[in-house]
Amino acid sequence: MSKIIIVSNRLPLRVEKKAEGMKFKPSEGGLATGLGSIYKEGDNVWVGWPGAFFSDSTEESNVTLRLKQENMLPVFLTQEEIHNYYEGFSNETLWPTYHYFSQYAVYEPEFWESYKRVNQKFADAVVSIAEKGDIVWVHDYQLLLVPQMIRDKFPDITIGFFQHIPFPSFEVFRLLPWRRELIQGMFGADLIGFHTYDDMRHFLSAVSRVVAKSNSSGIIEVGNRSVLVDSFPMGIDYDKYSGLAISDETGEREKRYRESLGDVRLILSMDRLDYSKGIPQRLAAFEAFLTNYPEYREKISLLLQVVPSRDKVEKYKKLKEEIELLVGRINGKFSRIKWTPIHYFYRSLPINAISAFYGMSDVALVTPMRDGMNLVCKEYIASKAHEGRGVLILSEMAGAAKELSDAILVNPNNQKQMVEALYRALTMPAPEQKKHLDVMNDSIKKYNIHHWVKLFMDRLTFIKEEQKQQATK
Ligand code: G6P
Repeated sequence: MSKIIIVSNRLPLRVEKKAEGMKFKPSEGGLATGLGSIYKEGDNVWVGWPGAFFSDSTEESNVTLRLKQENMLPVFLTQEEIHNYYEGFSNETLWPTYHYFSQYAVYEPEFWESYKRVNQKFADAVVSIAEKGDIVWVHDYQLLLVPQMIRDKFPDITIGFFQHIPFPSFEVFRLLPWRRELIQGMFGADLIGFHTYDDMRHFLSAVSRVVAKSNSSGIIEVGNRSVLVDSFPMGIDYDKYSGLAISDETGEREKRYRESLGDVRLILSMDRLDYSKGIPQRLAAFEAFLTNYPEYREKISLLLQVVPSRDKVEKYKKLKEEIELLVGRINGKFSRIKWTPIHYFYRSLPINAISAFYGMSDVALVTPMRDGMNLVCKEYIASKAHEGRGVLILSEMAGAAKELSDAILVNPNNQKQMVEALYRALTMPAPEQKKHLDVMNDSIKKYNIHHWVKLFMDRLTFIKEEQKQQATK
């Protein structure tokens, strides 16, 4: 019996070391839910970093034993590896480059060496449990070299790779000194997936420029193997968000928050702390709106949630300071005793609080400078399915904009356009809101996370069959 092995930098759970012992906190993320139906079955396994450091091998074996019950295999990383591979190469080299912030990228050979070593560690963990007929699904930019490293040991195994962040145009990608090795690492997969057609097109153009391989209809010949490249826009757990929106706990929270906030209309901004999300630009647009449309002062507030992320990386620390300065300045300038323009939360919130925020917000302002997909906008739409009220303002630089053309689409560099979009959203008649929400809901309900997983798996089976047929010709 063959099994499926999922590989990602983080496991779908976080181990926390507390004085009273270890805590195992499951992840709320969409990927964990979508792949839950796979990795929890039979002998299937999820391989990844448990998110904490352990003092000795006894502690590590305890964690390994405990995670085995959850069908997970941990890859333990040292503080130095986290510094060089995760904070360094993954998040100071690849992340900024792939999000078109190449001026932020550092090209540090030591980071690259660590990235190679840690990718080998993940590949070795997979190899230690893999058998010939297994299917391996590797996720995201932290593990670009893993597919080929596994292929070296198992020439016939089935490997899928999905990149959750954008793939930049070749003129940006070429800046990386290790561009060839990265592409060759990905080539170990049989299927390489991206969120959008444009990411796929950029990848194919990089392939033809860097390793001079031509392709037709997304199929690249690598040695005697055909590698398929395709796009799979990721969806959300639709039923979860539409269901939470009408749950008693969310309703009770909404009521409680409403009583404190009074009669203001709310605009929602909710992201991880990241410069790719365009938070300062969004705050500046909000400030310009209050300046240009003074009649809205005391009538609207911004709910600003920033989820802490990668806070050891310098650019993220700076961004936090920048956001806090801006929030302070805007609140200082416009606040009244009975009204706060921006309610700022720098922390993760429980899922029911998030659902209540979605439910209470008249407008969601989702304006990243660049985003592979963006799931917040889809969660907002799903949370509004029953109510039929709410307006989404969405950046055209988010992968989701390709699917959600019924949102008000904006260029996050165009402040005037963002201000006008806010005005349009706040004055949009209810029937028009419902019309757009219905169209978007139909689409994200159908193309949900389960659909995404199935589509990827079906394409992986398809390319493997093609390869077999070619071999017998
Ligand atoms: C993005 C990436 C994921 C990553 C997540 C959180 O969505 O595509 O691979 O896990 O951000 O970032 P973190 O660095 O905390 O894992």
